[in-house]
Amino acid sequence: MANHYRGALQTQDQEISLDHLPVAGQIPHWLSGTLLRNGPGKFEQGGQKYRHWFDGMAMLHRFAFHKGEVSYTNRFLRSSAYTKGREEGKICYSEFATDPCRSLFKRVASLFETNDHLAPVPNAGVNLARLDDAFIAMTETPIPVQFDAQTLETIGVIDFQDKLAGHMTTAHPHFDPAMQAGINYMANFSAKSTYNVFAFTKQQRRLIGSLPVREPAYMHSFGMTRNYIILVEFPLVIEPLKLMLSGKPFYENMLWKPERGARFLVMSKHDGSLAGTYESEAFFAFHHINAFEQDGDILVDLAAFPDARILDQLYMDNLLGPKGGALSQSSYRRYRLSPGQTKTSYEQLSAETIELPRINYERNNGIEYRFAYGVSQHGKQRDDFLDQLVKVDCTERSTKIWYAEGCYPGEPVFVAAPDTSDEDEGVVLSVIFDAQRESSFLLVLDARSFTELARAEVPQHIPLGFHGIYTHGVN
Ligand SMILES: [Fe+2]
Repeated sequence: MANHYRGALQTQDQEISLDHLPVAGQIPHWLSGTLLRNGPGKFEQGGQKYRHWFDGMAMLHRFAFHKGEVSYTNRFLRSSAYTKGREEGKICYSEFATDPCRSLFKRVASLFETNDHLAPVPNAGVNLARLDDAFIAMTETPIPVQFDAQTLETIGVIDFQDKLAGHMTTAHPHFDPAMQAGINYMANFSAKSTYNVFAFTKQQRRLIGSLPVREPAYMHSFGMTRNYIILVEFPLVIEPLKLMLSGKPFYENMLWKPERGARFLVMSKHDGSLAGTYESEAFFAFHHINAFEQDGDILVDLAAFPDARILDQLYMDNLLGPKGGALSQSSYRRYRLSPGQTKTSYEQLSAETIELPRINYERNNGIEYRFAYGVSQHGKQRDDFLDQLVKVDCTERSTKIWYAEGCYPGEPVFVAAPDTSDEDEGVVLSVIFDAQRESSFLLVLDARSFTELARAEVPQHIPLGFHGIYTHGVN
């Protein structure tokens, strides 16, 4: 039966910590580390509901592996929205598509009260990263929140105290092995808006390059090769003046302008110069899969939607409604950027849909690769949310599927086996909501065969979330 996924869009208020989860099957003993995940855990404050899947209160989850056993802890990030919202029994801060300021007076007033409407500790519920010895939770406002990877306790915001300015960033930074630094971009909204690409460590940020832009695009992630940063401007754009004056939540200030098409901006990682601009038909994507250089061309792989309607479909009212599981389909596209040309087009690498894509990042990010993993929609049943896991072989153009009826998988995270040079030797970890049991389990797949090795059952449901990282140690 369709729409069972809705059980995983309910608030989970229980914070628990268990030393041993019941395990069925065999978890490889070499798996000795921690899977940390992020996503919404709470969808209301008092009687007020958050409006969008992206707005829920960030909850951190921790699965630690040791000699075939798994422990589990979950804990809300103590964001301003979480703590003040609980104290006051109402929504106190703006999120992506929720705005607590209802009256015109409050909207005007919030413009003049210096940043009073901005949360001191953001609801960083999208992704996680490790910066040196620090773990951070991230969203699309440029202030990461540090947390303790053992206890999941919130430590506080990281304040870079530099002159880099920006209002919107991505929760998908890249890591550059040569620089030994993260790379991200921020959009700075003003009369002369810019995209600012920067390198960062826990200690500092350094501007790599800046590009002027009149109407900044909403870009949830970006691509990176050995030598280039690739920003893909989808025609979902933000008018800075409207954003400042409308008083509407952030998302409602975006406009879909398909007549603009999409624009690929290629920046040199070395000197920040614009190395090329390429145009294509309009499309939208949350996630880049990978990018790499090949014979002078740049190949950019994304999980692409035909338009940006997916953002509307992820409103809670829609997701919880009778047709909420019928989502726009994202396909695995490869765009080729060739020097001397101004246009780009794509080929589709898989017949299966793909979202929340992951690769063997440590081995293959920014270079040629063969395998990607993601969530996907099963067979002809395209109205049941994201209900299968997929492994795509970009070389052979073949796919492997993991599907179980009534199960709704989260982002699959690849973990390489020790001492191997093979791209797909390891395991894939995914948190699955089991609608029959109305609870979740951690699935361990053999990455090569894409068959189940083990599952560890959590005694409660884990709301459908977004992204996570695997880190060696910390178990
Ligand atoms: Fe994302």
